Amino acid sequence: MQKIKKYLLLLAGIMLVAVISGCGGNYAVVDESKPVPITKPSGLPTNPKILIAYFSHSGNTELAAWQVQAAVGGELLAIKTAEPYPKDGQACGVIAKQELAENKRPLLAANLSDISRYETIFLGYPIWYKQAPLAVRTFLEAHDFSGKVILPFCTSGSDGIEQSLAAIRESAAQADMTTGLALHDIGNGKMQRLITSWLEGVRGEVDAFNKKRASDK
Ligand SMILES: Cc1cc2nc3c(=O)[nH]c(=O)nc-3n(C[C@H](O)[C@H](O)[C@H](O)COP(=O)(O)O)c2cc1C
Repeated sequence: MQKIKKYLLLLAGIMLVAVISGCGGNYAVVDESKPVPITKPSGLPTNPKILIAYFSHSGNTELAAWQVQAAVGGELLAIKTAEPYPKDGQACGVIAKQELAENKRPLLAANLSDISRYETIFLGYPIWYKQAPLAVRTFLEAHDFSGKVILPFCTSGSDGIEQSLAAIRESAAQADMTTGLALHDIGNGKMQRLITSWLEGVRGEVDAFNKKRASDK
């Protein structure tokens, strides 16, 4: 009897270890506070009249740009400075602050030679000290945005997009601009939903701009 008891206890122990290690091996622990990484969309039909230009330092705005691309099928353009900003947020902040104080236009690593074939331009950026990074203004000021509609979106720690829009308007004065979208502190599921409802909301604005342009001709 003692022997059977021992055997049963040993068996139960083995089963418990198997269950615990099985849980660890088969189930990923989901950390809700961290966005699930998504991969760059591929194989989607692209719309040659839509450009999604974005600046991203630590990847959040790039994720948002990819989600916009997945929804509207435009062509992606990463705006990059010739001199990359330090990866460290604080070190990057020191440079960004200095640039803001000097109202600089940082040189870009590359730029589009021509944006004439695009009608609709999504413009994404992170909020840096309540503003768009100045590289975005370098990009805008290098091109003619007459007859184009800009749809601005940003990612941020907490700030909205409103305070950054006056500078965007100033740098692309010829463009029409829709209501912007601010994304912050959110996982991708929510990001996608917010982008979708923003796109639905601004469709009417884009149509109205296009109608007005057609009747002005
Ligand atoms: C230099 C710097 C300045 C920032 N300033 C602000 C700010 O004024 N308001 C805010 O809500 N978030 C601010 N943030 C947070 C970023 O806007 C946020 O992390 C954003 O999602 C980063 O986007 P990215 O990963 O595409 O670079 C700042 C971040 C950095 C690095």
